[in-house]
Parts: sequence; C-alpha cells; structure tokens
Amino acid sequence: MTTRRPQTPRRVKPVGSGRFAVGPALRTRIVGTGSYAPPTVLTNRDLERMVDTSDAWILERTGIRERRIAGHDEAASDLAREAARHALRMADVRPKELDLILVATSTPDMVFPSTACVLQKMLGAKQAAAFDLSAACSGFLYGLAVADQFLRCGTYKKVLLVGSEIFSRIVDWQDRATCVLFGDGAGAVVLQAERGRRGLLSTHLHSDGNQGHLLYVPAGGSRIPATPKSLEEGLHFVKMKGNETFRVAVRALEAVVTETLQNHGLPPSAIDLLIPHQANFRIIRAMAERLGLPMDRVVVNLDRYGNTSAASIPMALDEAVRDGRVQAGHLILFEAFGGGLTWASALYRW
Ligand code: ACO
Repeated sequence: MTTRRPQTPRRVKPVGSGRFAVGPALRTRIVGTGSYAPPTVLTNRDLERMVDTSDAWILERTGIRERRIAGHDEAASDLAREAARHALRMADVRPKELDLILVATSTPDMVFPSTACVLQKMLGAKQAAAFDLSAACSGFLYGLAVADQFLRCGTYKKVLLVGSEIFSRIVDWQDRATCVLFGDGAGAVVLQAERGRRGLLSTHLHSDGNQGHLLYVPAGGSRIPATPKSLEEGLHFVKMKGNETFRVAVRALEAVVTETLQNHGLPPSAIDLLIPHQANFRIIRAMAERLGLPMDRVVVNLDRYGNTSAASIPMALDEAVRDGRVQAGHLILFEAFGGGLTWASALYRW
C-alpha cells in the first residue's frame, strides 16, 4: 500500500524584487544567445613589449592570458551587430519582430545617437524602440532588469539586449595598471515573456555613487569636455584604484549573492552554474569559495577575453549555452560589479 503525502497548499513564489504572484508566473525567458569577439588577439607577451609588466604578473593577479582588440574601423555597434545576429538566429526571431533594443555599454559609438539606435538601423529592426544603458560592468544585468519590467507587464513581447564594449579605445596603453585588464567584445540575448517555472526568477540591483571615484573616465562628458589640455592630461582614459575596487567588489558581490539566495529561500548548493562578470579570477574564485561551489560549476572565460565590461556575462553565457554546460532546468546565478559603483545579480531557471 502506498501512502499519499497530504497535498500542500500552493506556495507563493517570488517573481522579482518585492513582487509576488500565485501559480505559473509570467517570466522573462532567454530564447537566444550570441556573442562576438574581434579576431585580433593581444597576449600578455605582447603587453610585455608595450609596458613594464610580465605574463606571470598578469596571470597571477588577474587570470588573464590574452584579450581581443577591435579593428580600427570597428565600433561598439559593429560588435553588437554580430552578437545580435547569432542570438536572433538561435531564437528564430526576425529583426522586424523586435519591440525593443537595449545596448549596455560604456564605450558607445558616439555621444548620440545611441548605439542601440545605430544597431536598430543595421539590423533593420524598424518596429523597435532603442536606447543605451550605462552601468559599466553591471550593464548587462541592469539591462536584464529593465527588459524584464517591459516584458512582464506586457508592454513589449520581444527584446534584444546586447552588451558591447571596445575598452581598448578608452584605456591608456601606457598605464600598466589598467591596460592589461580589458578586452573588446559583445554578447547578446533575445528575451520574451512566457508563463511557467523557467526563466528569470529575480534581479537585484545596487549602486553607490559615493564610491564613483574608484573607477571612472573623467573627461569626454559635460564636466570636462574634450580640449587639448584634457587630452594632454589623459583624462579620457579609464582611471581605477584597483586594489580598493577589488576589496569593495568582493564585499558587495557577497552581499548581493546572499540577498538573492535568501530572497528565494535557497541554499548555495542549489546553484547549478555561476556565471559571473569576468573582471578578475581571484574575485570569481572568492565568490565560488564563499558559495561552496566547485570551479567546474563556474563559467570562466576571462583567460581568453579579459574584462569586456558589459559584454562579459552574455559572452560567457553564450559560450556555456553552445558548449552544453547550460542544461534545461539548471539554476543559474549571475553577478556583476562595476563603475558607478554598481553591482547586481540575477537568478535564472534555464
Ligand atoms: N604589471 C606589473 N606590475 C603591476 C601591474 C602590471 N600590469 N599593474 C600594477 N602593478 C604593480 C603596482 O604598481 C604595485 O606595485 P607596488 O607594490 O610597487 O606599488 C603592485 O603591482 C600591486 O598593485 P595592486 O594594484 O595592489 O595589485 P592587485 O593585486 O590589487 O591587482 C588588479 C590589481 C588586478 C587591478 C586588482 O586590484 C583588480 O582586479 N581589481 C578589481 C577590478 C574590478 O573588479 N573592476 C570592476 C570592473 S571594471 C569596470 O567596471 C569598467
């Protein structure tokens, strides 16, 4: 004789920061991923010939072996277009079906029009609204949260979200403390809302403008417009207090990951895959250790691409989707930290 378990009442499940619904919720689903990295490779050995550094220092302190550098004729929209095409193909979505194009970038083609509008033209996505989003390395997760609002409230049905960066244009190639860290690339996802248990479970966004001075590009905006003096002083390049940023990043990421798991009442062991922003292997390993996750459940590609800022998470996701590491039903935790300061996480059931 079998004993039937008493039926438990249907549980109320969180579907986003501070919002609750009963039953199968309308969730944002990733239905296509794509990425693009320009073919030119710059290795640590190449950098040894450019600044006072060494392959050993870069590898030990960051985990980076090489990075990609965009061609002189390429802008952020060109990289975005390639990533977007791959994602649209996987999703079997035509550009004309898109309702919204979001591009997360700190290295737009120009001040305006937005890189998203340039991309809209390139793709022929005539119906789509388009705008850029600036949250540095957290840009992709901020973009995911924004797209999620439009999709779950029914305003839009299909959204293209791209992270695209050409940091090689804004790093000072004479500053060894920053030029070894970054690389160029783009990653894209096609998003749509579907009812069910799978999809985006929540996003968690944070900012602290008080610490903006740790990581910034001083000139090129309205505060310090381009002048011969600003160029001479190198104010258009990335400035970063790396060591301080590192310490803040580890604390902030630990807090946001804890917040995310607590929000869902989940233990760290529930996570099948961690897809972190790819800034520094030591930060990634520290987070994996705090979660008790073995490194084979963490997607790492910064050894080949360096820090591609807003592009890093969608590039890593695309790689893991295409090589089969991401499987149906997997619980994926995304986390990122960047200039602003900004930091964020997202929990996703694939
Ligand atoms: N090669 C050799 N030596 C170097 C290099 C280099 N490329 N760069 C710095 N050094 C030297 C420094 O001058 C310093 O020398 P000193 O001790 O004689 O003064 C020494 O190495 C140690 O420097 P630190 O800055 O303390 O090195 P650290 O171990 O902190 O590593 C790094 C630096 C890799 C930048 C690290 O701090 C880091 O990854 N920080 C976080 C970056 C991050 O997450 N940023 C956010 C995302 S990026 C965005 O949003 C755009």
